Amino acid sequence: MRPTGPPRIKSPAQLIADSGADLEGHGLKRTMGLFQLVCFGVGAIVGTGIFVGLSDSVAEAGPAVVVSFLLAAITCIFTAFSFAELGSAIPVSGSSYSFAYATLGERVAFLVGWCLLLEYGVSVSAVAVGWGQYLNELLDSLVGWRLPDALSSPPGDGGVLNIPAVVVIGLAAVLLVRGIRESARATAVMAVVKIAVLVLFCAIAFRAYQGDNLAPFATHGVAGITSGASVAFFSYIGFDAITTAGEEVKNPRKNIPLAIMICIGIVTLLYCLVAVAAIGALSADQVAGQPAALSLIVDRVTDSAVGGGVIAFGAVVAIASVVLAVMYGQTRILMSMSRDGLIPHVFEKVSPKTATPVANTWIVAVVFAVPAAVVPLDVVLNLTTIGTLAIMVVVNIAVIALRRRYRGTDSGFRVPLYPLSPVLGVAMCLYLIWGTGWTTWARFAVFLVVGAVVYALYGRRNSRLAAAPADRGGPDGPHGPVTGPATPGA
Ligand code: ALA
Repeated sequence: MRPTGPPRIKSPAQLIADSGADLEGHGLKRTMGLFQLVCFGVGAIVGTGIFVGLSDSVAEAGPAVVVSFLLAAITCIFTAFSFAELGSAIPVSGSSYSFAYATLGERVAFLVGWCLLLEYGVSVSAVAVGWGQYLNELLDSLVGWRLPDALSSPPGDGGVLNIPAVVVIGLAAVLLVRGIRESARATAVMAVVKIAVLVLFCAIAFRAYQGDNLAPFATHGVAGITSGASVAFFSYIGFDAITTAGEEVKNPRKNIPLAIMICIGIVTLLYCLVAVAAIGALSADQVAGQPAALSLIVDRVTDSAVGGGVIAFGAVVAIASVVLAVMYGQTRILMSMSRDGLIPHVFEKVSPKTATPVANTWIVAVVFAVPAAVVPLDVVLNLTTIGTLAIMVVVNIAVIALRRRYRGTDSGFRVPLYPLSPVLGVAMCLYLIWGTGWTTWARFAVFLVVGAVVYALYGRRNSRLAAAPADRGGPDGPHGPVTGPATPGA
């Protein structure tokens, strides 16, 4: 890598100006209010993490898993403040990628975009794998038959191919290329379904609650709680998606921070209740590592397959909506990066027939169907987690860079206890990265090195910012940097 000169910065004003064109060539309408935004957030957050990942967190932390969920929530809250300040100062769709471009420069932005492949793309694989577990449970309770392991699990988990995971990704791709994504009403319905299913689970499981199941409490010690928190963190991923709606939100400077906090509050409460109810009903040893654990617990408590079937139905619907939302997010991030010239143009091409990025969507579907089919859930889950935590480290640093670079700007929401909050955010993210374990660090390190090479060989050379005329905030020459404060737009 050649670190030549100061970083290439794309100012907030320029990001906002560039965001003036959407797929139809005009600005997005600001139609989303606080309620819709909260539903959108809950829709993006609640999925495989709690329905499937809970049993993996319990395997790590034992009954103390509730502490793991709280630690993951605290990490999210510090980082959410930073997201909120950045999201209200730079209300565009690119989220952490755009925030990094405006504050830390193009190289960091590219690597954030690269890590977003883990947060969104690999997460599609992970979420799809979780979906398959509940589909099997649903089939079992409806027709008394389930797909054989060989066709519903990857090689590392005793199978050959995970067909349901591939199918749900394929279905999501078909809907997305046709331009069908959740309407505001469908998003609200989906959020309510998810909350209702988890509340129903708690109502049933608490009937069989036995306090003894929670003692001894921290059976796997602090190390277990730490790795449990790293696994539990997956179930919070998605709150940052609220900032991707930045261009469509009414009064974004007030509503974005508020919606993020409300969403984290709601899901933390729900997750802690679900965790306590699950272990109270069935011991931690019996929950640990079980597929489709919530259905299993309800089946055992009610001594019938009906309750578990209802939970499985809710999970199948709820998790499918996460696949759709996350895949949509991935295609749009790739479009932003492609428009900036950092990845090939094929990702920004929009079909004149459907007004959707068809090639982009199919590339995403095919590429991420592969890990969904053949990689065990814990591997894809950990990769998503470490990629997202790395992005969050950058976001916390970006808020400090924002204040230094654009001093005196009224950004709307301001991080409380600055700079303590972003510093603690970085520390908590590093703590959870620690908990993912060295095999995940090694895989992530290889992934980052590949990203740095792709930037050096392609992104840096093809960057549109580097080639932009100086009056757009571009550099003087094709490789000259853009530096210095720019006036952030409103
Ligand atoms: N938080 C999302 C889920 O749990 C990724 O499925």
